[in-house]
Amino acid sequence: MAIEWYPGHMVAARKEAALAMRKTDVVIEVLDARVPRSSKNPVFEQLRKLNQRAALKILNKSDMADPERTRLWLAHYNAQPGVKAVALSAKKPNEVKRIPEYAKALAPHRNSALKPLRMMILGIPNVGKSTLMNTLLRRSVTKVGDEPAVTKMQHRHELGTGMWLTDTPGMMWPGIGEDIGLKLAATHSIGKNAYDVAEVATALGAYLLVHYRACLEQRFGEIPADCTGYTLLGVVASRRGFVARGGVPDLERTARSFLGEFRDGSLGRITLETPEDEDEDDAAAPPPAESADAALPDASEAPDGDEHPDE
Ligand code: G4P
Repeated sequence: MAIEWYPGHMVAARKEAALAMRKTDVVIEVLDARVPRSSKNPVFEQLRKLNQRAALKILNKSDMADPERTRLWLAHYNAQPGVKAVALSAKKPNEVKRIPEYAKALAPHRNSALKPLRMMILGIPNVGKSTLMNTLLRRSVTKVGDEPAVTKMQHRHELGTGMWLTDTPGMMWPGIGEDIGLKLAATHSIGKNAYDVAEVATALGAYLLVHYRACLEQRFGEIPADCTGYTLLGVVASRRGFVARGGVPDLERTARSFLGEFRDGSLGRITLETPEDEDEDDAAAPPPAESADAALPDASEAPDGDEHPDE
């Protein structure tokens, strides 16, 4: 399943964010702790590295992620130069309030009103960036919603004396690969009109059967040994009584329900990838373009009028 979801406003936002990065000391990158690899915007990661900016990687929604895998991800990122990674929940003020302190440690030379610490916050849609901003600034600065791409403007906020934070809208990148697209659809970072719900639920089921079978059995009862991602939907449909006309399993409804249970944490604390998956991507990646920004399509190539596929 190829996912092509790159709304027009994100092209303009990407250009603005690339400019803002030049005047930034620390890039705060909000990731979804359940899919740290897939929720990384590779265009901005490449830009950040080219610009040699420090990164504070926030593994958000860690309350829903597998704690053991979160530990692996933190170790993976904290071993990278100029990177500090922390796991937290944007809904917990006590965890969020330490963000300025982490950022300061990454750029200790930026420590006065004359040389303010300039931060920018990046994240793809639905990773919890608005929630984090709201908690950080302790007021409602952005609309928190369940649909991707709610925030569309860049804003700058004063976090305290000598500390500036530029907020950017949630941005995707063109040409999302199939595996990453399926994971981002599962975590609801991609608008629901851009994917097939049964296909995403089947792929999620196949992964969970291998890596989190116990979570599935706890939720749905015993699962047959030869179960596949697809037949799992049939099992769930019969256990839940989701039957369509003619007595056949209602797979569409089952898929929606299954994805909903994964998204709200009812299936347990689950993480869909490990640092090895990211290492494999890096090994397979083409050599970096001279300028990440130059490698991107021009704004004029963006599709028109598809700002939000769910609308
Ligand atoms: P965005 O700006 O990155 O697009 O994301 P946003 O803050 O709108 O958050 C998307 C959804 O994720 C919201 O759920 C939000 O509450 C939830 N969320 C954000 N951070 C966390 C976290 O650390 N842990 C958990 N468990 N959820 C988080 P929602 O369904 O719209 O509403 P709500 O009823 O959960 O508030």
